[in-house]
Amino acid sequence: MTNTDYKNPQLLADSTQTASTGSFNWRSPSNLAIVKYWGKHGVQLPRNPSISFTLENAFTQTLLEYAPKTDHNENIELEFLFHKEENEPFRQKLLKFLESITDIFPFLRQFKLKIRSGNSFPHSAGIASSASAMSAVSLCLCSMEDELFGTLQDDTEFDRKASYVARLGSGSASRSIYGGMAVWGKIGAVAGSSDLYAVPYADRMHDAFKSFHDDILIVSKSEKSVSSTAGHALMEDNIYAAPRFQQAGQRMQRLLGAIQAGDVETFGEIAENEALTLHAMMMASNPSYMLMESNTIEMIKRIRAYRAETKEPVYFSLDAGPNIHLLYPEEIIHNVSPFIDSELLPLCQEGMIVRDWVGEGPEQV
Ligand code: DP6
Repeated sequence: MTNTDYKNPQLLADSTQTASTGSFNWRSPSNLAIVKYWGKHGVQLPRNPSISFTLENAFTQTLLEYAPKTDHNENIELEFLFHKEENEPFRQKLLKFLESITDIFPFLRQFKLKIRSGNSFPHSAGIASSASAMSAVSLCLCSMEDELFGTLQDDTEFDRKASYVARLGSGSASRSIYGGMAVWGKIGAVAGSSDLYAVPYADRMHDAFKSFHDDILIVSKSEKSVSSTAGHALMEDNIYAAPRFQQAGQRMQRLLGAIQAGDVETFGEIAENEALTLHAMMMASNPSYMLMESNTIEMIKRIRAYRAETKEPVYFSLDAGPNIHLLYPEEIIHNVSPFIDSELLPLCQEGMIVRDWVGEGPEQV
């Protein structure tokens, strides 16, 4: 059974419950898409399927506390702290998200909510945090539902709902619910896949990918000039959009095969081309924009030169920003580390790097 709606007017607490308090604490990671989600329609539905590595060290930790309301109003009462400080823009964003999902979680109007959140990575590292932030909140909300109503006892159902809700907050967040790798978007090759939530792909991953590193080389810490949400919207009038969505589907097919077979070379070829295609779409948008910096390009050249010279499987990817994600298997870390130190770190802003690898997925703490 797959409930693909999750609207449930029955999830209202009774008077004993509304007098109670509780709290949940989830740590949820960021993820790096190998085939990228870029372009959406309807209510947060992807134009093409995507697949990502779940990370380990780049995470958001979120504590949700609920307590009785002091007066009976229908508003969502939300207090929000980010890194122990009030942050009104983030609070407003979160409030808007919670308002948008009250038909899924009607009980949110019945309590006073306090959410405290923080990221493991430096606030200004220019790392996209919507995936980790939105998945962490969604997991807390599902825990709250389960505590009040006992409706999400089944782990698979819990994760699916958390992924569905996370998707409504930020598309890429749907994939952060699962460790290893996750697929979001309907594709024939993955049974049970859906545009509405992500599904786990860890079981089908060849050992060759299980210890993959993803070091994030911080080229620039500045806030990006065009948000991902705005970037997705620009795909609608991009004349390359249709072939791009088709290409993503075909690449998914090839990549899934490579991931199962342990074909690291095909994986790397697709990862790099996807990253560049994403940025090509930005440059071909109207208005056109560019998020890569000169040091992004310089690093790409150095990574390719290093690979040509050493024949080692070292590849790059990019998110919607200038930072380089360096992908390589654990076995070659002793060769890659000196290369990073001598050739790439000098191109990073203040020598900043976030060392990360494929992670186990969210954890309740
Ligand atoms: C380039 O998930 O941040 O990282 O759904 O509008 O919140 P919204 O966008 P978001 O877009 C992520 C784009 C990407 C590729 C990817 O993660 O698949």
